[in-house]
Amino acid sequence: AWADATGAREVRLANPRSFCAGVERAIDVVDRALGKFGAPVYVRRQIVHNTHVVRDLEDRGAVFVEEVDEVPLGSVLVFAAHGVSPAVRAEAEARGLRVVDATCPLVTKVHTEVRRHSAREATVFLIGHADHEEVEGTLGEAPADVVVVEDVAAAARVVPRDAGNVAYAMQTTLAVDEATAIADVLRERFPAIAAPKSDDICYATTNRQRAVREIAEGCDLLLVVGSTNSSNSLRLVEVAQREGVPARLVDSAADVDLRLLAGVRRIGVTAGASAPPTLVDELVDCLGGLGPLTVAEPATDPEVLRFTLPKEVS
Ligand code: F3S
Repeated sequence: AWADATGAREVRLANPRSFCAGVERAIDVVDRALGKFGAPVYVRRQIVHNTHVVRDLEDRGAVFVEEVDEVPLGSVLVFAAHGVSPAVRAEAEARGLRVVDATCPLVTKVHTEVRRHSAREATVFLIGHADHEEVEGTLGEAPADVVVVEDVAAAARVVPRDAGNVAYAMQTTLAVDEATAIADVLRERFPAIAAPKSDDICYATTNRQRAVREIAEGCDLLLVVGSTNSSNSLRLVEVAQREGVPARLVDSAADVDLRLLAGVRRIGVTAGASAPPTLVDELVDCLGGLGPLTVAEPATDPEVLRFTLPKEVS
C-alpha cells in the first residue's frame, strides 16, 4: 500500500531494473581489454546503448567507431553486446585486428538458431526492428533467408519461398506481448513453422517488463532511466503506457522536466538493462531533494545469471 499519512511523495522502484548480465559482461570486457592491452581499445558501435556508459569508457581510453575500416591496422577491437554479422567479423580479420567479442551470449544463441534454419534452407522470419543493430547482425547470418517482421500487419502478408519450410526468431529486447502477437499470426498462417526452443526475448527484458507492470498500478507517472536508442528501455515506457500510466524515458536525473512532477504523488522508477544503477540512485536523490519522499521496492528473487568472459580477456 502507498504510505501517504506524511503527505510525502512516493517512489516505487521496479525490481529488477538496470544492468543485465550481458551488459555487465560487455562493460567488463572493455575494462579488461584496456587493462590488458592498454589504450586505445577500439569498440565497434556503442558497447551498450547508454550514453553514460559510453562516455565513461571513452574517458578511460576506449574509442568508439561506426565501422571496422576506421580502426587502425593491428589494433584491438571489441564487438558490442548487440552482436555483429559474419561479414563484419571477416572484415576485422582481414584487417588483422585483435578482436574481443562482447556479444551477449543470448544474442549469439539467436544467431546460432538462424544459421541452423538457414542450413536447411528455411525462410526465417526475424521478429524485430529492422534498424536495430542486433537485427542487422542477426540478419547478416543469412541475408538471403531472413525476412524481418516488424509488426502484426507484416506478419499477415509475408510470403516465404516455401510455406512448408519456415521458422521464426526474435530480437532479444522486444515487448513480450507484441512479439507474442506477431508470432501467433505467423503460427496460424504457417502451422509447420519452427519456433525457438525457449523464447528469444531474454530473461532480463522479460523480468524488467514484468516488474514495471507490478508497480504501475496507482502510479501517477513512471520514469524509465535509459538512453533514446535503448530498445529495451523504450519498451519499458510502452509497457507502462499500456498499463495506463504516463511514462517518460530519461537519460538521467538532469533530463527530468520538473513540470511533469506537478501534482504527481506516486512515481514509479525503473531503468533499462543498459542503464547504470547509479543513475537510478541519483534520480531518487534528486526527487528527495524536492521534498519529503518515501521509497518502496517490492521484494523479488535476485537475478543470478552471470556469463563467463571471452578468453582473450579472462
Ligand atoms: Fe543480453 Fe538480454 Fe542484456 S540479450 S545484453 S541479457 S538485455
